[in-house]
Amino acid sequence: MNNFLQLSDLSNEQISNLIDEALCYKQGDKPLPNLNSDVASIFLEASTRTKISFDLAANKLGNNVVNLDLNTSSLTKGETLYDTLDTLSSLGIKAAIIRSSQERYYQDLLDLDIKIINAGDGAHGHPSQCLLDLTTVYENFNKFSGLKVLIMGDIKHSRVARSNIDMMQRMDMQVDVYAPEIFKTDDDFNYIEDLDNNIANYDIVMLLRNQLERHASEVENIQDTYLEAYGLSTTRLAKLKDDAIIMHPGPFNRDVEIASEVLKDPRNKINDQVTNGLYSRMAIINYVLGDDVSN
Ligand code: CP
Repeated sequence: MNNFLQLSDLSNEQISNLIDEALCYKQGDKPLPNLNSDVASIFLEASTRTKISFDLAANKLGNNVVNLDLNTSSLTKGETLYDTLDTLSSLGIKAAIIRSSQERYYQDLLDLDIKIINAGDGAHGHPSQCLLDLTTVYENFNKFSGLKVLIMGDIKHSRVARSNIDMMQRMDMQVDVYAPEIFKTDDDFNYIEDLDNNIANYDIVMLLRNQLERHASEVENIQDTYLEAYGLSTTRLAKLKDDAIIMHPGPFNRDVEIASEVLKDPRNKINDQVTNGLYSRMAIINYVLGDDVSN
């Protein structure tokens, strides 16, 4: 059994195996393992697609999913996450799918007899999103090496950006980044300044959500003008290559970072990302609880 904490913990071969496994599940080419374990779902931050797809993925592989209700659990009485997981382990739970606002929260939990599946840790990492994004890229291009990707938007608060920049570079993709000044970081990312004259160069344009819950006061003044100034507007959509793909981890702010018209464009792969999230998370759960070649 394995933890699933950061995608960078895995070798390129292991990642390729997980992508192949996810696409086999999607195509119905692989029998579903019956893992028959109890799994806890602990979302300390809001989620729709990650939580539901992990729950569905666990169920499809024969597991029983129990949800920790934040309003009624003993976390509200001050019990720590460590002691909560220790309690769940004593009840026979083999793995916990956890989202937390605390970066690297899992580092304090690794001596427990329960496997951790990281469903997002603050602005640090979102490894299952990264795997489903890589799966979507591979599904569309059948390769990684040499592809040019532009990640644009709220880089500063995005765990998706950090996970993807790191892993896409490791897969030999060229990763450029575009952000308004308020969303830039001090990281050594390859920032571009002229979006309009460069957007036609990319195979993949990945948008990020303006994370209002993390910095409402910083962005509320620019929300109304954001799309034309910095977002994927219809004007910029018209400049994209015919065979480019458009990605966004969701949820999106419609007509803020992405124009409604983009959602009708055949190059938009956002719903494919959601679908691939289910199959990628099945591969992750089998990696953690199963006995498969990717282990
Ligand atoms: N992409 C993503 O993590 O979405 P949710 O917050 O809905 O899970």
